[in-house]
Amino acid sequence: SFEVQLASSGRVIAIAPDKTVTQALAEAGVEILVSCEQGVCGTCLTRVLQGEVDHRDAYLTPEEQAANDQFTPCCSRAKSPRLVLDL
Ligand code: FES
Repeated sequence: SFEVQLASSGRVIAIAPDKTVTQALAEAGVEILVSCEQGVCGTCLTRVLQGEVDHRDAYLTPEEQAANDQFTPCCSRAKSPRLVLDL
């Protein structure tokens, strides 16, 4: 598991292994717009300010994934213990 931090408030939310980032955030009252929830459409695209993303989408190009500055929280996860999101 890992955690995400919301840059605007500093709030930290734990992401359980059986939850997506969007699910865990929604349960914490932070809604991210989703559509496909499979990493295809890009609707949920969110900027990443710190941490290493484990990209699991088919939306971003390999170059965009390597830039590590945005991710699809409907399906992608983290390789680092924490991601700081531009939320
Ligand atoms: Fe479609 Fe996340 S909701 S990529």
